[in-house]
Amino acid sequence: MKNKIIDLRSDTVTLPTQKMREAIFNAELGDDVFEEDPTVKRLEKMAAEIVGKEAGLLVTSGTQGNLVSIMTHCKRGDEIILGNLSHTFLNEVGGISALGGIHPHTVINNEDGTMDLKDIEDAIRDDNIHYPRTRLICLENTHNRCYGAPLTVEYTNDVCAIARRHNLKVHLDGARIFNAAVALNVDVKELTKNVDSLSFCLSKGLAAPVGSLVCGTNEYIKEARRYRKMLGGGMRQAGIIAAAGLVALEDMVERLKEDHKNARILAEGISQIPGLAIGLEKVKTNIIYFDLITDRISAELLLKKMAERGIKFLSTGKNRFRMVTHYGITEEDVNITLKSLKEILTH
Ligand SMILES: Cc1ncc(COP(=O)(O)O)c(C=O)c1O
Repeated sequence: MKNKIIDLRSDTVTLPTQKMREAIFNAELGDDVFEEDPTVKRLEKMAAEIVGKEAGLLVTSGTQGNLVSIMTHCKRGDEIILGNLSHTFLNEVGGISALGGIHPHTVINNEDGTMDLKDIEDAIRDDNIHYPRTRLICLENTHNRCYGAPLTVEYTNDVCAIARRHNLKVHLDGARIFNAAVALNVDVKELTKNVDSLSFCLSKGLAAPVGSLVCGTNEYIKEARRYRKMLGGGMRQAGIIAAAGLVALEDMVERLKEDHKNARILAEGISQIPGLAIGLEKVKTNIIYFDLITDRISAELLLKKMAERGIKFLSTGKNRFRMVTHYGITEEDVNITLKSLKEILTH
């Protein structure tokens, strides 16, 4: 039998469960651009209820979810405040500018994924003919680049309070919002209550093959539906996707605990391996970053040698790596990974 590939590059590599495949096979379908797909409707309703919003909208991806959400809040020439390490700023191809004509105003992200409240407030523009209009503040929870850090309820509410004071809206990139809720042991609604819109992904730790949801008020989602269509996201028998999404929301949230536990075991193991360094206190969910601190082996060679053993992970900077635990990665896989790292680094 071929050895299993241990793929720690991302939680997006997760494959659908058997139950998802069966749900896809049996899905009741219709044309969702005519709003006639019953499975999509069920998913959108369930998603909205879970995050405590009036309505939901199925979109193709997290990137489309953020773009649709931000374009729905802003006009061309408006400005949004977002973290300098946010996924929307770094990894969404500049879509908000290229497609939405929206100006990003970045504020420094701290290692815990927050932006200082004062920095946010300072970034809000006065009413001045020279300035773009500030319209929106964006948060990311959990914060991918910031060690998968979960933003707390208190911090989220503090940012929302600033937004209210200045008549701004808040959008939450909650691609991994359920990881945050599970890690903080709070109802996800607590993390979403005061934001105006959020997007979250079905296709990451929740293991569905495709799809994200945008959630907000009825009026907001009605408008977002137009932007989704404009961006080519009007899908027809999308119940095929939604069917797996329903299973994801029903079955896959609680088990994220297991991914967090495995990430912790991985991180603690890495902290014991000579030549590697990790900030253990930063590990709170399923994403870990660590550094190579020896010159006995190069980062490229370490990646190559691990890949030869069937273990994949990402380089995310000079001598820096990322590993992500997810459905499909077991504690045994974590132990094999640690053993391999140790062998390569100590021989
Ligand atoms: C925080 C965050 N937001 C948005 C996205 C984009 O999701 P997608 O890859 O589905 O476009 C990602 C993807 O990894 C992400 O980590």
